[in-house]
Amino acid sequence: MDLKLNNKVALVLAASKGLGKAIATALSAEGAKVIIGSRNETELDKAADEIKQLTGNEVIAIPVDVSKADEIEAFVEKAAGAFGHIDILLNNAGGPPFDKFENFDDEQWQKAFDLNLLSFARLSRLVLPHMQKTGSGRIINIISGSVKAVLGNSVLSTSMRMGVVGMAKLMADEFGPYNITVNNVAPGLILTDRIKHTLPQDTDPEQALHEKTKGIPLGRIGKPEELAALVTFLASEQAAYISGTTIQVDGGANRSIY
Ligand SMILES: NC(=O)c1ccc[n+]([C@@H]2O[C@H](COP(=O)([O-])OP(=O)(O)OC[C@H]3O[C@@H](n4cnc5c(N)ncnc54)[C@H](OP(=O)(O)O)[C@@H]3O)[C@@H](O)[C@H]2O)c1
Repeated sequence: MDLKLNNKVALVLAASKGLGKAIATALSAEGAKVIIGSRNETELDKAADEIKQLTGNEVIAIPVDVSKADEIEAFVEKAAGAFGHIDILLNNAGGPPFDKFENFDDEQWQKAFDLNLLSFARLSRLVLPHMQKTGSGRIINIISGSVKAVLGNSVLSTSMRMGVVGMAKLMADEFGPYNITVNNVAPGLILTDRIKHTLPQDTDPEQALHEKTKGIPLGRIGKPEELAALVTFLASEQAAYISGTTIQVDGGANRSIY
């Protein structure tokens, strides 16, 4: 299937590794011109080079801390100048810490808000005029399966992701007339550094990962490419009539019927 992504310009945030990098790679493999952003410039440049080598398409790396308004503004301005248009925005960021509700203070709540909710609002607001100009666009938010079923110790993540779900619904409503779709992708357990770093320190990592697969009907942890495949489809011409949705990529782990 030709996803008609040739020469589309995609901004992919938090993309030096993990889900963001897999998404940037998949979009680039489909012919998109990809602009990636995250904080560590060396890691980001390395990721851009790797993707370029793999796909043969243009990839631009622009360092950005998505929790900072001025850096987001500079990122979008440079990105818009690079190819003259913006067609796809992939909102993504590092995840907030896991702990019990009682252990988070105001500062940690504020940080999670800036990183995982306000950054998505800021980026979406800044790309909107570019998408309105071309008369089409795709905004895709990486959130978490915790918006569908309780995940222990994830109060910061869940609270911010629920905000993104509500915001995306409103954005889908308002942006529809401009032919811009807005959707959320909710990962279950996908093997990235974030997952490796949250394994218990006192257990063998292989064993700890195996334990985590017990509640997953498909019996294994997902691969970043498997989530990237859905994002690439949502970014495509073929997904033009899908908007305002939240789709899980979790091997069937979420047991709720609705
Ligand atoms: N993997 C899963 O199973 C899973 C499940 C549910 C939800 N999620 C969510 O999906 C998102 C991506 O997760 P992942 O597994 O891909 O994580 P990861 O492997 O740890 O990668 C995180 C990426 O985010 C970048 N980043 C972190 N803070 C940033 C900031 N302030 N500004 C810009 N970039 C930043 C990192 O680069 P720098 O450090 O250089 O900035 C890195 O490229 C997270 O929000 C996570 O909570 C993941």
